Amino acid sequence: MAARVIDGKAVAGRLRGRVAARVAALPFRPGLRVVRVGDDPASGVYVRNKDRAALAAGFDSATLRLPADTAEAALLDLVGELNEDPAVDGILVQLPLPPHIRQEAVVDAVRPDKDVDGFHPVNAGLLSTRQRSLVPCTPKGVMHLLREAGVALPGARAVVLGRSQIVGRPMLQLLLDADCTVTVAHSRTRDLRAECRRADVLIAAVGRPEMVRGDWIAPGAAVIDVGINRSPDGRLVGDVAFAEAVGHAGAITPVPGGVGPMTIACLLENTLIAALRRRGEGS
Ligand code: GUN
Repeated sequence: MAARVIDGKAVAGRLRGRVAARVAALPFRPGLRVVRVGDDPASGVYVRNKDRAALAAGFDSATLRLPADTAEAALLDLVGELNEDPAVDGILVQLPLPPHIRQEAVVDAVRPDKDVDGFHPVNAGLLSTRQRSLVPCTPKGVMHLLREAGVALPGARAVVLGRSQIVGRPMLQLLLDADCTVTVAHSRTRDLRAECRRADVLIAAVGRPEMVRGDWIAPGAAVIDVGINRSPDGRLVGDVAFAEAVGHAGAITPVPGGVGPMTIACLLENTLIAALRRRGEGS
């Protein structure tokens, strides 16, 4: 039987609607600043989508564009100003940055309570010690999708493909906290196919077009595809070979229209959370 396709656009639309309703009821507009350095075209699309979604949900949102040859010190100065600006609740510096700028230095410079990406080491540490934090948007979106799709998590065997700071590592924490038994597999894993075949829940976040084949998937598994890649023939594809996988999985996210819209919806949710916490409200 073909897998149920999880409609990320619809789930994200509902979450955005809930956030917008809460923003509309506030006596202030939460402020988001997205910083883009250089002209990477993919980053341009992502940043525009984030800004549009934030404005549509009633946020005070603006994108700050800096040229590709911006010095690291100048970017750090800008982050410092945003840290101090009381109108700003959330700061997002779009990655990747040009090679002459140390990504780590910039991530570390964002105030943890305005770090709506959840990338700062303080937020990573809080998440790993199960304390209140700002949770990275993509893994948070994946958890929303699993819950909305009714996937039973306690006791489930979850396999995360990829160990990145942005997706794989926080994904491990969140699935563990949802009582899954979690394996994180990666490029040095001995038999990726065998690891994947054991998964009740498979999260693919490696950035390799259609690497996960249909026969890597256990019958009925829930498959969440975080990848957004260009295939050699120019199609936009995930890390999972969707047409094959749909015949094996029980539920699966498409690319596009799966995880991508959730990342943006969770950014809005994080910005609202940051705004409320900075005013001593919210949990
Ligand atoms: N580049 C790709 N994904 C992301 C993200 O979630 N946040 C930021 N800041 N940059 C990204």
